[in-house]
Amino acid sequence: MSAHARVFVTRQLPGDALDRLAAAHDVEVWPERMPPSRSELMARVPELEGLLSMLTDSVDAELMDAAPRLRAISNYAVGVDNVDVDAAAARGIPVGNTPGVLTASTADLAVALMLAIARRLAEGEEFVRTGGWATWEPGLMLGRDLHGATVGIVGYGRIGQAVGDRLEGFGCELLTTSRSGGVSLEELLERSDFVTIHTPLTPETRGLIGDAALRAMKPTAYLVNTARGPIVDTDALARALRAGELAGAALDVTDPEPLPGDHPLLDAPNLLVVPHVGSATVATRERMAAMAVDNLLAGLAGEPMPNQVTPQGP
Ligand code: DGY
Repeated sequence: MSAHARVFVTRQLPGDALDRLAAAHDVEVWPERMPPSRSELMARVPELEGLLSMLTDSVDAELMDAAPRLRAISNYAVGVDNVDVDAAAARGIPVGNTPGVLTASTADLAVALMLAIARRLAEGEEFVRTGGWATWEPGLMLGRDLHGATVGIVGYGRIGQAVGDRLEGFGCELLTTSRSGGVSLEELLERSDFVTIHTPLTPETRGLIGDAALRAMKPTAYLVNTARGPIVDTDALARALRAGELAGAALDVTDPEPLPGDHPLLDAPNLLVVPHVGSATVATRERMAAMAVDNLLAGLAGEPMPNQVTPQGP
């Protein structure tokens, strides 16, 4: 085990945390805006001892098989659905992630999306910019209130709870569902004015919000997703919005991601989409970088990572 390890970082990170990594190891940082292609990644891994990956990189068993020296993977995200954590565990490679530091920023964005979709902010701005604002009108752009609403939180971990904390200030009634309790998903969908998703993407949550779930929602309710795109069935959502089965949806994450500008979902009514920016504040992205670097430094030193993912097993 060399003290000076060969490390690949798949994108430049905000802040100066990578300087600490470069001071200790032989670091290559991918310089492009677009992620390294699969072939670029595969070409590097045979020599790598450390990998600092993004959620845009698929870190799977094939990649690990091509990386016999790899001994630490640090993912620059709390979500690790892009990393085969069980395959890493089987090879004795620790995987780190960045929990906690992005909780508040992501919860802030979820609430911002609830307000934006229900109070029609994007629509209002477009209306003004395109010259539609002729006068004040009693019935112009009526939306729905977040204050006093019943909000269903699907997944009540760190981020779900932080959303709940914020909504108490809005006088909302909270319904929650998670592996550890709360109401049933069916009840939550039927009773909520807003449904906001905060579960990780796992085989159990993939497609959780599909045709049946969307049909169970009130036609006056809104769906918000700041977790992972594939938790919501995109085609089912487009259909439900067109059929008026829900009042609108606000998405920070999509499937596919990125969502091409000509994707049919974008033609659906009452849809707001932003480009996976839940954790995108200067302070949060810098903290995530520091945490990802700390994880990698510890893993390469053969020490437990400060935030090491526990494999779920088969
Ligand atoms: C995460 O960390 O999983 C977010 O989706 C990106 O910050």
